[in-house]
Amino acid sequence: MATNAASAPAGPIPFKDVVLDNVNLVAAIAAETSSEDHGDVLVSALPSKLLAGTQNKLRCYQGFWLPETFVPAAIGLQRRFVPRPDDVIIASLPKCGTTWLNALSFATMARRSYPPAGADHPLLRLSPHQCVPFLDALFAGGGREARLDALPSPRLMYTHMPHEMLPRAGGCRVVYICREPKDTAVSLWQFRRSMHPELPFIDTFESICSGANTYGPFWDHILGYRRASESWPENALFLRYEELLRDPAENVRKLARFVGLPFSEAEEEAGVVRGIVELCSLESLRSMEVNRTGYMDGLKFPRKALFRKGVAGDWVNHMTPEMARRMDDIVADKLRATGLTFQ
Ligand code: A3P
Repeated sequence: MATNAASAPAGPIPFKDVVLDNVNLVAAIAAETSSEDHGDVLVSALPSKLLAGTQNKLRCYQGFWLPETFVPAAIGLQRRFVPRPDDVIIASLPKCGTTWLNALSFATMARRSYPPAGADHPLLRLSPHQCVPFLDALFAGGGREARLDALPSPRLMYTHMPHEMLPRAGGCRVVYICREPKDTAVSLWQFRRSMHPELPFIDTFESICSGANTYGPFWDHILGYRRASESWPENALFLRYEELLRDPAENVRKLARFVGLPFSEAEEEAGVVRGIVELCSLESLRSMEVNRTGYMDGLKFPRKALFRKGVAGDWVNHMTPEMARRMDDIVADKLRATGLTFQ
């Protein structure tokens, strides 16, 4: 359903401009995880594992290995999140291009308030994650989720939660980004090394293959969104990182149509799509002061760790042929029924 230009909403506004406080999210959420009552779910009784080489504990909730601190978020999202019909939620496994898609989606949806070539574009002063709120952190406790109410419609948000954790009702739209699993594994390891420099690749590789990895099993995560996109194509769009690399402009157009804000001929002629792609390119985002310095708000990792090579096929530099075959076999076995392949 397209929105005509005259009645089009102003689009999302940067979350950081609405919510000014910068609490230590990790500490605040950890304190609340143990103290909060989650109804019938006792977080400390769920199966647990330590992520190899780290102190991060995962808990298995409804078949998915979630960071312990985010189990309350899964419960909260399922029970308390009331989506608005024009909400747009970006969903992904970590390291599949979330930051890029957040930036592209924000720039696309907010383009009438913030033209991509504008000198005051929010993405020139804020990280994509400061523009687009992270549902998992907001629903993890402490009433932070109420901050979403301050956002005008349409809201743009993101999550790493499996599709199963999102509420069924509400009719909001979800855009999922999927990435070749071997490249995702390498990207995740490189990212974790920004906090644990000695972490061997084999530890990350093994935990991903076992399924007991952050938000895993990765195959069930992909399956949930894949099936949703096939069953409810108006509500769930399935994008692929490699396709975005191959043709970012066409994927931005697809995204715009999906969220009900297709580009007009005048916008096409004025180069708005190209402007969005350029503003959100790896080179552009990486060069910005806000993305080169400091840490993610309230989290432990440096912002620059979000921008690395941004290519397809980097796995060949880190995996033996046996490791690659093992992961390909898992993918072929688990995703066969969907017809989804990564070759
Ligand atoms: P690599 O580590 O393979 O380079 P996420 O945002 O989900 O954490 O994903 C991070 C991955 O996306 C990293 O992959 C990062 O380099 C890549 N990335 C970030 N911004 C990008 C952009 N604008 N264009 C292409 N890739 C980007």
